[in-house]
Amino acid sequence: MSPGTKVMASNIATRVEWLQRFGGTDLEDLCVATETAIVDGNGFGWLKPPPRDILESYWRGVLLVPERELVAARLDGTIVGSGQLVRPAANNEAQAPVATLTTFFIAPLARGHGLARSMLMAIVTRAGERGFESLELTVRETQTAAIALYESCGFTRWATKRKYAKVNGAWVTGFYYARDIEPMRTVQPELRAAAAR
Ligand SMILES: CC(C)(COP(=O)(O)OP(=O)(O)OC[C@H]1O[C@@H](n2cnc3c(N)ncnc32)[C@H](O)[C@@H]1OP(=O)(O)O)[C@@H](O)C(=O)NCCC(=O)NCCS
Repeated sequence: MSPGTKVMASNIATRVEWLQRFGGTDLEDLCVATETAIVDGNGFGWLKPPPRDILESYWRGVLLVPERELVAARLDGTIVGSGQLVRPAANNEAQAPVATLTTFFIAPLARGHGLARSMLMAIVTRAGERGFESLELTVRETQTAAIALYESCGFTRWATKRKYAKVNGAWVTGFYYARDIEPMRTVQPELRAAAAR
């Protein structure tokens, strides 16, 4: 068993890891997790699951885009959720210290094992390692579990947008959150780009 793996009292092993590539059934598992989270509602921009090939292309693309890093949550080895740390585009020097957290979710049947908290802490730690000083995210007001988690991890709500997302024809309010990050080292933009490769 690898060092980052925790074994729960019920003998369910949980693990959070940064992905550089998809091995075995990882891509299929991530697609299944995504589909169940979309059907459950309260997550993602998708309102209904897209065709599987679109979903696979999306996740493959995430691993290819240099601005994105993908963290995965595993339950007994199977990917059941993920989150992304997104850095600003290289031309955006003024906002270079500000990273964004996006597409953060755990599939419904895998919730309640502490995986979301572990993923969030991994993302906060990685943001510091990359030299970021602020981490931002947005969340629908209906995503109450996520809001409780973010606030318990030091995120502060700084804005509210009434027309944030349109779901089933109705506007849903969105909240804007941020938390300061302690950069672990000063990273020049060119080094940050190299680290992302
Ligand atoms: C938010 C989400 C990722 C949490 O996943 P999870 O696996 O249940 O999270 P964890 O088991 O790590 O629990 C994290 C904390 O949230 C708390 N929590 C979980 N569900 C909750 C709820 N409905 N209301 C309040 N708190 C809740 C837990 O008690 C836990 O706190 P603790 O560590 O102090 O015990 C999951 O509910 C989800 O994917 N929701 C839909 C997608 C979403 O909202 N994403 C956010 C987009 S910005």
